[in-house]
Amino acid sequence: MSRSGSLVNFSLWVNAFLVCFVLILALPKAEAWSKEGHVMTCRIAQALLEPHAAEVVRNLLPDYANGDLSALCTWPDQIRHWYRYQWSGSLHFIDTPDKACTYDYSRDCHDSHGLKGMCVAGAIHNYTTQLSNYKHGSSDRRHNMTEALLFLSHFMGDIHQPLHVGFTSDEGGNTIDLRWFKHKSNLHHVWDREIILTAASELYGKDIDLLQKDIQKNITHGTWSDDTSLWKDCDDLFSCPNKYAAESISLACKWGYKGVSQGATLSDKYFHSRMPIVTKRIAQGGVRLSMILNRVLGNHNQEIHVPA
Ligand SMILES: *[C@@H]1O[C@H](CO)[C@@H](O)[C@H](O)[C@H]1NC(C)=O
Ligand SMILES: *[C@@H]1O[C@H](CO)[C@@H](O)[C@H](O)[C@H]1NC(C)=O
Ligand SMILES: *[C@@H]1O[C@H](CO)[C@@H](O)[C@H](O)[C@H]1NC(C)=O
Repeated sequence: MSRSGSLVNFSLWVNAFLVCFVLILALPKAEAWSKEGHVMTCRIAQALLEPHAAEVVRNLLPDYANGDLSALCTWPDQIRHWYRYQWSGSLHFIDTPDKACTYDYSRDCHDSHGLKGMCVAGAIHNYTTQLSNYKHGSSDRRHNMTEALLFLSHFMGDIHQPLHVGFTSDEGGNTIDLRWFKHKSNLHHVWDREIILTAASELYGKDIDLLQKDIQKNITHGTWSDDTSLWKDCDDLFSCPNKYAAESISLACKWGYKGVSQGATLSDKYFHSRMPIVTKRIAQGGVRLSMILNRVLGNHNQEIHVPA
């Protein structure tokens, strides 16, 4: 190919890149725990896996992940706008009735067309079932177990983000525009990302890894070490996601929406009182994801009851 040809190609690429960039900026706003929130959740979980479950997870990951689950935990956010995966969009959240501050599976777990089970709690149930069949050797060949692992890992993060179980009319805070310190944001994004980034930059020298290590320290021998067995407590793996969702909407009301109105400016006071909630929810998401993976992929003989 001639030089001018490759120059033309180059400018085409630059244009294509700019168009993609603009498209990315213009994507709908309802996203998930930021990349950082998901990465931390998955790192916390993977560090708590028992040897057999850890090995199964490593085997399910594609080679390029180098055995690191967190490298692919944001995959469900990357593909949700692809035509092939559009069905997965409603699996990232739950819309509950405005101001009710409660969650009810049969009332709230559906997509915008009313299709039952198409919400984050239903998705966790779905992918937990798929992975437990895989362990029992009856894996349904229609289902891709790598995808099941990535979806489960991602949705366990989302269900713990309080504003992912939010009010219907404001789309979980997405339509509540406000300022986070000096820049424009919205309430949903404050909980997905702003609080995490502000914590990292104000308290951990901009180093997310240090924030994550501090969360892990508080899980193993700190503030939460006495609570983790309670967090993991779950008689029926398939109904526990409902408990996590109920906790989220309750926190969303008590800490998320509380005192926030359209056009508000949130800063130090909101940040310092809410950051402990955010770090605790990331910790709970990670601890509980490891609990589920240890139970469905571990090698103890305990049978798992899978409802038909
Ligand atoms: C369950 O998983 C399958 C395979 O990914 C998917 O087609 C289906 O929509 C999922 N349903 C829910 C409720 O997650
Ligand atoms: C399973 O899904 C992953 C991610 O979409 C894909 O890369 C892989 O090729 C799939 N595996 C099979 C056997 O289809
Ligand atoms: C860990 O616990 C200490 C003591 O309660 C607290 O000050 C700190 O903010 C916690 N760290 C995180 C990341 O939650």
